Amino acid sequence: MERTFVAIKPDGVKRGLIGSVIKRFEEKSYKIIGLKMMNVSLETASQHYAEHNGKPFYQTLIDFITSGPIIAMVIEGNNAIAGVRHIVGSTKPDEADVGTIRGDYSSYSTMNIIHASDSSQSAQRELHLYFREEELCSNYKTMFEIISDELGGIK
Ligand code: PPS
Repeated sequence: MERTFVAIKPDGVKRGLIGSVIKRFEEKSYKIIGLKMMNVSLETASQHYAEHNGKPFYQTLIDFITSGPIIAMVIEGNNAIAGVRHIVGSTKPDEADVGTIRGDYSSYSTMNIIHASDSSQSAQRELHLYFREEELCSNYKTMFEIISDELGGIK
C-alpha cells in the first residue's frame, strides 16, 4: 500500500473544484487519510519546490502556491503514486488527456489545479512537509476495504 501527497492549488479552491477533485480519488477507491485547508508559507513553498529552484518558472510557482489557501491531502492505495498522477494528468496543458483533472479543468502550466507527488521519495518528503504523522487517520475502513475483507482479501 502506498501513500502519496496531493494538493489542490489556490485556483482549484477558488474555482470551487474541491469536491469534484476529491470525488475522483474516492471513486477510484483510494483512501483519504489526511485532509486540511491551509495557507502555504514561503518557507514551506521553497522546501516543497526546492528541486525547481533556478528554473525559469520557479518564482511563478512559489508566488502561485502561496497566493491563497490550498487543500493538502494524503491519499493511500494500491500503487497510489502512479495511479494518482494518472488521474491528475500531464503538467503540459496540451498533453493532459480529457478525463484527467488537468485535461478537464485547466489549460495552463501554472494554474493547473493540482499537485501530486511524482515518486516515492517525493511522496515521503512532501507528506511529512505538510502533515505530522499523528494528523493522518488510516484507522477506518473504506467501503472498498470492507468488500475486499468480505471476499477474503481479494483485491
Ligand atoms: S520539469 O521541468 O519537468 O521538472 O517540470 P515539471 O515536473 O513538468 O513541473 C514542475 C512543476 O512546475 C510547474 N511548471 C510550471 N509552472 C509555471 N510555468 C511553467 N512554464 C511551468 N512548467 C512547469 C508544474 O505545474 C509543476 O508543478 P506541480 O505543483 O509539481 O504540479
